[in-house]
Amino acid sequence: MGYGNELVIRNYNVQKDRARVEDLERRCEVGPTERVVLFTDTLGDPICRIRNSPMYKMLVAMFRNELVGVIQGSIKLATVHKPPKDLAKVGYVLGLRVAPSHRRKGIGLRLVRRLEEWFIANDVDYAYVATEKDNEASVKLFVGKLSYVKFRTSAILVNPVNRRALRVSSDIEVAKMRIEEAEFLYHKFMDSSTEFFPHDIGNILRNKLSLGTWVAYPRGESLISGVKVPSSWAMLSVWNSGELFKLRLGKAPLSCLTYTKCSRLIDKIFPCFKLSAIPDFFNPFGFYFMYGVYREGPLSGKMVRTLCQYVHNVARKTNDCKVIVTEVGCQDSLRFQIPHRKSLSCPEDFWCIKALKIEEKKGLYELTRTSPTARAIFVDPREV
Ligand SMILES: CC(C)(COP(=O)(O)OP(=O)(O)OC[C@H]1O[C@@H](n2cnc3c(N)ncnc32)[C@H](O)[C@@H]1OP(=O)(O)O)[C@@H](O)C(=O)NCCC(=O)NCCS
Repeated sequence: MGYGNELVIRNYNVQKDRARVEDLERRCEVGPTERVVLFTDTLGDPICRIRNSPMYKMLVAMFRNELVGVIQGSIKLATVHKPPKDLAKVGYVLGLRVAPSHRRKGIGLRLVRRLEEWFIANDVDYAYVATEKDNEASVKLFVGKLSYVKFRTSAILVNPVNRRALRVSSDIEVAKMRIEEAEFLYHKFMDSSTEFFPHDIGNILRNKLSLGTWVAYPRGESLISGVKVPSSWAMLSVWNSGELFKLRLGKAPLSCLTYTKCSRLIDKIFPCFKLSAIPDFFNPFGFYFMYGVYREGPLSGKMVRTLCQYVHNVARKTNDCKVIVTEVGCQDSLRFQIPHRKSLSCPEDFWCIKALKIEEKKGLYELTRTSPTARAIFVDPREV
């Protein structure tokens, strides 16, 4: 039985709700129970995950003066390749949580519907959400009840930062790009090859959390200029998510715990042994998010790997940055080039989409039929 009129959904109020939202976040774990579960610590600012988006909203659900649910949403212009236009207003649903003792009372459903009303009032064409494939409650809610359709699957790749620096190949040049150059390259190469490419990429690159964009190419060749690019090259940008919120491991399979102990021991006893320690994930830690990974050419896999090694070495010097995270399409061969630890990574996330305007519904059918290999998804660091 639902809560009827006794359930009130209203805007988040920082003074009244901050502590209660944080408490709810702590009580809600996301993901299946048998795998490693990551908790987020928003450092006293529960709205931090969406604060950098052009438009955002956070709603809370109240039942008899108790905060029982929360949801966040953001709106932006992004490429959605559907003729005749390639630009759409998209609304992203994130951070949906319902207190464990109040589940299956229709609160989640009502929170999403209310957020969709905000999207519609702001002329949004499509709502979308990313959810773990194994999160039955979430998949049933969005796909089963709310008519979202599965659009793409992605893999979240997590790699621990080791104390030792990684050797970066000497026959590859790694250069940092100026923001204007990076913006130009992203528009030129990624705009047409990815879905959800943000129209305001310049704002992302200029944000203080964006640490920079790096490009790798064979030493001896010249750096990308205008239309001429090296025979093989790759680029990526880095976002310091740890400045916004921290992660903490909530539960781990025994193998992971054992590995923590063993590898530390090995590290102590045999300092020259190449096996590095897995960092301590049970205390809050920060992370880098690599976004906008693009590559071209026969040796581009090596370029991507080199960039990842380079970023790893930058991360080593950042206080409490213990992992590097990225997200790529499941069908994208890029995932084989990006170093990651399997036990910490999420093999499949569903990206689900819903047309909010009648005229977009037909187009959505076309969109979901396109091959996932034809276009990758751009994962906006502001939505991580
Ligand atoms: C997912 C979540 C928000 C659902 O909230 P909720 O208030 O319990 O959901 P509702 O009561 O509105 O459920 C609506 C429908 O979703 C589906 N659903 C919800 N929870 C379900 C579950 N545990 N198992 C199967 N289906 C479920 C059902 O179809 C349900 O309709 P029904 O009760 O008439 O069968 C809640 O389980 C939660 O907070 N989970 C942890 C955080 C999380 O995973 N968030 C989603 C990240 S995208």
